Amino acid sequence: MGERQVPLPVGEDKLKYYRIPINLYKNGDLVEQDIYLRYQGNYLVYRAKSTRWSSEDSVRLEEFGSDKELYIRCETDNQHFKFIESNLTRVMSQKDTPTKEKAVFLYQCATGIAEGVFKNPSSSETLVRSKKVVTHTMEHLAKDSSAFMEMISLSSHDYYTYTHCVNVMTFTISLLNALGQKDKKVLEDAAIGAFLHDIGKAKVPLTVLNKPGPLTADEWKIMKKHPEYGMDLLGDKQVPERGKEIILQHHEKINGVGYPFGLRGNQIPLISQVVSICDAYDAMTTNRCYQRARSGFEAFRIITHEMKGHFSPRLVETFIELMNFRKKN
Ligand SMILES: [Fe+2]
Repeated sequence: MGERQVPLPVGEDKLKYYRIPINLYKNGDLVEQDIYLRYQGNYLVYRAKSTRWSSEDSVRLEEFGSDKELYIRCETDNQHFKFIESNLTRVMSQKDTPTKEKAVFLYQCATGIAEGVFKNPSSSETLVRSKKVVTHTMEHLAKDSSAFMEMISLSSHDYYTYTHCVNVMTFTISLLNALGQKDKKVLEDAAIGAFLHDIGKAKVPLTVLNKPGPLTADEWKIMKKHPEYGMDLLGDKQVPERGKEIILQHHEKINGVGYPFGLRGNQIPLISQVVSICDAYDAMTTNRCYQRARSGFEAFRIITHEMKGHFSPRLVETFIELMNFRKKN
C-alpha cells in the first residue's frame, strides 16, 4: 500500500477547502453551497450557493484544462462530512465520474459514518447508515477488478478505529468474492458484520484502547470483552444474525486459541473466519499507538508462520492470491 491518497483539506484558518468531484453537478442541479474553482493556486467562486448549475458551467470548466479542481469551503470536518453523506448516492450513480474519484468519495463517507457509529453506537441510525456504506461498497467493488485495489490504496498506514472498519469491510467483501460466495444476502450480512465488528470497543476505556505500551493482564481482560460489549450495544437492533455472529466471533481462531469462547475449526462460521483474517491483516499493516505498520509481505509472513494454525490454510491461500503477492514474488 502506498501513501495516503484521500485528499486532505487545504487551508490554515478555520475555514478549510475540501475537494469535490469535478462532475458532481449537472445542468439544473441546485447548488447547496458556494462552489470554488481552484485555478493557478487561487480559489474563485465558480457557482454561488442556492443557484442552479448550468450546462455552460460544465463546458466552461473544460476550458480550464486538466489541472482544475472544484472545492467547497467548510468550517468543520463535520460540515464537510454532511455534504459527502448527502451526495453519496448521486456521486456513486454518475457514469462520467472516474472510478478512482468515486472510491475517494465513498471511502471518506464510509470513514465518517464509522466515526458516527462509534461515537453513538446505540443510535437508531446505526444500522441504516452502515447498510448504506455496505450497499455502495458492494456495488462499487463489483464494477471492475481494479476497484478493490483502488479502495485499499486509499487506506492510511495510520491506525484509526474508523478507517480500520472500512478496510476490514472492503477486504471481507473482496475475499468472499474470491472464495466464490455469490449469495448477495450473505455478502451483505458479512459486510455489515465486518463494518461493525469492533463496535464493542466503544465501551472500552480510551486509556486501555489507546495505551501506548503493552496492556496489563487486567487491561487485556477488559479489551477481550469487546466482542460481547458489541453484542450488548447491538443486541436489540435489527442487525442480521450472521452480522452478530461476526461481532461475537471475529477473535476466535480455528486452533482454539481465540476468544471469547475458544471455538475450533468448523465451529466458527466461514464468514467469521474471513473477518478474522482481514482484521488481523489490516491491524498489522497500519500504524498502531504501540507498533509501526508492517508491509503486506511481513504481515503474510506472520500469518503463515507465527500465527500458523489461527486461520484456515484455504483462506490464507486465497487472501495471498487476492492481494497479488504471489505474482510479485
Ligand atoms: Fe476486534
